[in-house]
Amino acid sequence: MDKKITVVGAGNVGATAAQRVAEKELADVVLIDIVEGVPQGKTLDLAEAAPIELYDTHLCGAQSYEQTADSDVVIITAGLPRKPGMSRDDLLTTNAKIVKNVTQEIVKYSPETILIIVSNPLDAMCHVAFETSGFPSNRVIGMAGVLDSARLRAFISMELNVSVGNVHACVLGGHGDTMVPLPRYSTVAGIPITELLSADRIESLVDRTRKGGAEIVGLLKTGSAYYAPSAAAVEMAEAIIKDQQKILPCAAYLNGEYGIQNLFIGVPVKLGKNGIETILEIKLTDAEKQALTASASSVQNLVDTLKTLDY
Ligand code: NAI
Ligand code: 2OP
Repeated sequence: MDKKITVVGAGNVGATAAQRVAEKELADVVLIDIVEGVPQGKTLDLAEAAPIELYDTHLCGAQSYEQTADSDVVIITAGLPRKPGMSRDDLLTTNAKIVKNVTQEIVKYSPETILIIVSNPLDAMCHVAFETSGFPSNRVIGMAGVLDSARLRAFISMELNVSVGNVHACVLGGHGDTMVPLPRYSTVAGIPITELLSADRIESLVDRTRKGGAEIVGLLKTGSAYYAPSAAAVEMAEAIIKDQQKILPCAAYLNGEYGIQNLFIGVPVKLGKNGIETILEIKLTDAEKQALTASASSVQNLVDTLKTLDY
């Protein structure tokens, strides 16, 4: 294949993302992990599934980064996941070190690549990758909004017993408890859910979305979600690889948009071959603006803490 996607971190999210890329034949896959044998074993297993699932994707697993050279897209999932009782923010120092180290290695071999960050705490890890890489902001993108809005879409579809294909949803803000689901911009067959559900029911779906990651952690007990997160990261990679000009909510570096400066936060963007092609500024009510500002200040606090850490 003439495209290459590297996935760093061969754990739950990374290995499942590699599987999804392979099955979609989006690009050749290089899977990297520090644990010896794991990326090699998982990519060999995926190669042995290919004759059954019928894909011709080339897969390669490694500890070192030579094989990642000239990747078109790199998905960074390396880092620790949450355990029950932990917030995403508890992962700050450990994952900052990991994301910094991974980014340095990636940049050495793929200076023109586009980074999709998955590791948590997501918005802060985008800052680490952005500052370490020195890349322009269109080439560093965080995965959170696609996942959070997929959760809201799933809950709306369950509530109204309609096809998920009919449901769109929009979730902005940081990837944490302050995220900003937007019911006015969430629709079923083009009809805003505010026309279809009571305010109480909407609030309950919104609340479940905010706590969606914790709900899965509470059930799994030994890790966090990975089927939906890997699907979300691969949807973003596909939009870039195929230059789809697809509008998705992603963590993007804002430079005045929505009145927010120098901060990664979830907003609607258009993804294409250059990464973020455009940041869309949609109209928000005063209450929605306030919620986004509050979410931004909670991300800003984390980024300020990051600046005080030696990682
Ligand atoms: P996992 O523990 O299954 O996999 C993480 C992998 O990273 C492990 O295989 C580990 O060996 C590897 N790793 C650690 N340090 C590394 C390094 N320096 N270089 C290369 N590989 C390294 O965890 P999982 O479930 O795959 O989650 C990965 C990360 O993604 C976590 O931080 C998690 O919180 C985050 N996450 C973020 C989501 C989002 O919406 N942004 C959604 C789901 C997970
Ligand atoms: C999630 O939302 C843990 O961030 C991860 O599932």
